[in-house]
Amino acid sequence: MRTSGLSKYRFIAKLGLAWMISLSALAQEGGQEAVTWAGDVAAIFQEKCQECHRPNSIAPMSLLTYEEAKLFAPVIRYRVENRVMPPWHINPNVGIQEFTNDRGLSPAERETILAWVDQGAPLGDSSEEPRALEFNDALVWRLEEQMGAAPDLVVESEPFDLAAVTQDKWFRPTTPTGLSEAKWVKAIEIRPKNAASRRVVHHSLAFLMQQETERVGIPEDVDIPLGPSLFMEWAVGKAGQIFRPDTGKLMLPDSQIMWEVHLHAMGERVPNAQVELGVWFHDEVPSHRTILSMFDAQGPRSLDIPPNEIAVTQGTFVLPAPARLENFQPHMHMRGKAMSMEAIYPSGDREVLAFVDNFQWNWQINYVFAEDAAPIVPKGTLIITRAWHDNTANNPYNPDPNQWVGWGDRTVDEMAHNWVDVTYLGQEEYERMLADRNARAQDGSP
Ligand code: HEC
Repeated sequence: MRTSGLSKYRFIAKLGLAWMISLSALAQEGGQEAVTWAGDVAAIFQEKCQECHRPNSIAPMSLLTYEEAKLFAPVIRYRVENRVMPPWHINPNVGIQEFTNDRGLSPAERETILAWVDQGAPLGDSSEEPRALEFNDALVWRLEEQMGAAPDLVVESEPFDLAAVTQDKWFRPTTPTGLSEAKWVKAIEIRPKNAASRRVVHHSLAFLMQQETERVGIPEDVDIPLGPSLFMEWAVGKAGQIFRPDTGKLMLPDSQIMWEVHLHAMGERVPNAQVELGVWFHDEVPSHRTILSMFDAQGPRSLDIPPNEIAVTQGTFVLPAPARLENFQPHMHMRGKAMSMEAIYPSGDREVLAFVDNFQWNWQINYVFAEDAAPIVPKGTLIITRAWHDNTANNPYNPDPNQWVGWGDRTVDEMAHNWVDVTYLGQEEYERMLADRNARAQDGSP
């Protein structure tokens, strides 16, 4: 190495700088608060983990007490650092970040948990520990508390007699809703009807079957087909949805629910595997009707996922009218890795609205945009849905990286679409909504 006077000087200066930096890092470390279970972590776990991580809930282990949490500290660190737990897999740096049902950790909470594990998962002063939460283990409607009442209508599927050992079953019964007049739906929830069903129902869809002779609740200039459509679904991570105050779904008299219940035998016979649907109605007719739409990421050639590759596919949809997009719900199976929803506006501008970069096939999560964050987009907006499937050995869920994979119902087959509730708007209304929102944003700004 050439050591001219100048470069020597630079070298010394660099050393000095490095020394100063390491000193300040030391100082920071010295000054860093000790993170403890009692003082910091317990409260975060109560809010963000314990609903699932307790006896009789859906997670494999309880995280109610210090002893339990400490036992799992290394795995907790891993899952929290990789943003797998809590189950909220939206990329925190891309697209919309305000949701009505956000159960992710804030950056500070995340840092606290990681620091706690790194410091040896200490208990701290147990007198600081928040009082244990009380849980209600009865079969409840999860939305009942928020809605302030039990559902107005409950529709049950027929029971299915599932053998102890058998291939997966797809049970598709139809049940009348019993409605004699049109109703506007404010919220919907599906649940397995009993504990045994909870163990064997892998997921369940409910389609609303009704004859639409008039175009009720759709702006006159909006030309979209109305027909039987998906009403609600149940899977781990998703139970139901409350629509915005001014929007709802329409149920007509003599309508029927067609179920699709995916059953997975667990080694003991379940003679009454059954799901039920709770529906809350609006008292008054809401000003908008929301329609669940499937934005496909398959493209014209369907899915074609070669062995040992990461496949990228995309599909497009042109919105036939101005609209508000209420949510983002990617659906893929075991090889699903990531999905994005991007808009290209008639102006040519483009924007990624949402991106799940860490898809976990056993979690079907509906990311519901907050009121003032839900995109209000003009007629002619092109929606691009893009899906990544990881069919390599690096994907821990991949049952066989040497298989070619195409579209299909089984979890070892693939799918690639995004369920979005679309609220179509008339042109004037679209303009008014945008103006209102911009005015609110200005009021709120400092
Ligand atoms: C909505 C329910 C839910 C919430 C909230 C939740 N978990 Fe989980 N967790 C689960 C389920 C179900 C599993 C098992 C399936 C899986 O791994 O996805 C799991 C698995 C885990 C595992 C892996 C266990 C193992 O043996 O590999 C860890 C660690 C974990 N969770 C930690 C946490 C922490 C920490 C939080 C809160 C910051 C949290 N979870 C929030 C439901 C939840």
